[in-house]
Amino acid sequence: MSVADEVFNLFSRHGAGAYYGESVSMLEHALQAAHFAHQEGAPPQLILAALLHDVGHLLEDVPDDIAEWTQDAQHEIVGGAWLARRFGEAVSDPVRLHVPAKRYLCATDATYLKQLSQASVITLKLQGGPMSAGEIAAFEAEPSYREAVRVRLCDDRGKVAGLPTATLASYRSLIEELARE
Ligand SMILES: [Fe+2]
Repeated sequence: MSVADEVFNLFSRHGAGAYYGESVSMLEHALQAAHFAHQEGAPPQLILAALLHDVGHLLEDVPDDIAEWTQDAQHEIVGGAWLARRFGEAVSDPVRLHVPAKRYLCATDATYLKQLSQASVITLKLQGGPMSAGEIAAFEAEPSYREAVRVRLCDDRGKVAGLPTATLASYRSLIEELARE
C-alpha cells in the first residue's frame, strides 16, 4: 500500500471522530491545521506536518472524552515515529515536538496560555504544564523547534466549526512527493 493510501485509510477509519473536546472532527482539524500552514506560506514539509500532526491519535485507541484520560496518550511520540518511517525529519520532527511546543509557548508567551481552548488546558496538565527553564533550553536546542512551534500554532487555530478547506484528496500529490522511496 502506498503511503498516501495508508494516510487516507487512517482518516477514513478514524477521521470522523470528534477532535477531543472541540467542535470539529479529527479530519476537519487536520485539514484546518494544514490550511493555516498553507495560508501563512509555510514550506511543503511544514504543511504536511500540520496535516498529519495528530496521526498518532488515529493510530491508537484513546477515550473520545478527554475527561476520561488518566494519562497523556503521547500521541506525538507515536505519530512522530510513524512519520519518521515514511517521510524526512522536516515532516516528522515538528510532529514529535508539537506537544512540547505547547508547553514551551505556555512558558514563554504570556498571551498564549490565556487563549488556549478549555480542552487544551486540561491536556496541558497531563502533558506536564508549562516548561521549566531547563526544559526551555533543551527544547531550543532541538534543530526543528521553530517549525514545531509553527505547527503548534496551526494546530491551535484548527478548531473552527464549518471552516471551508481543501479536501484530503487534494494532498495526495504532496504526500507522494515527500514520502521516502
Ligand atoms: Fe491537533
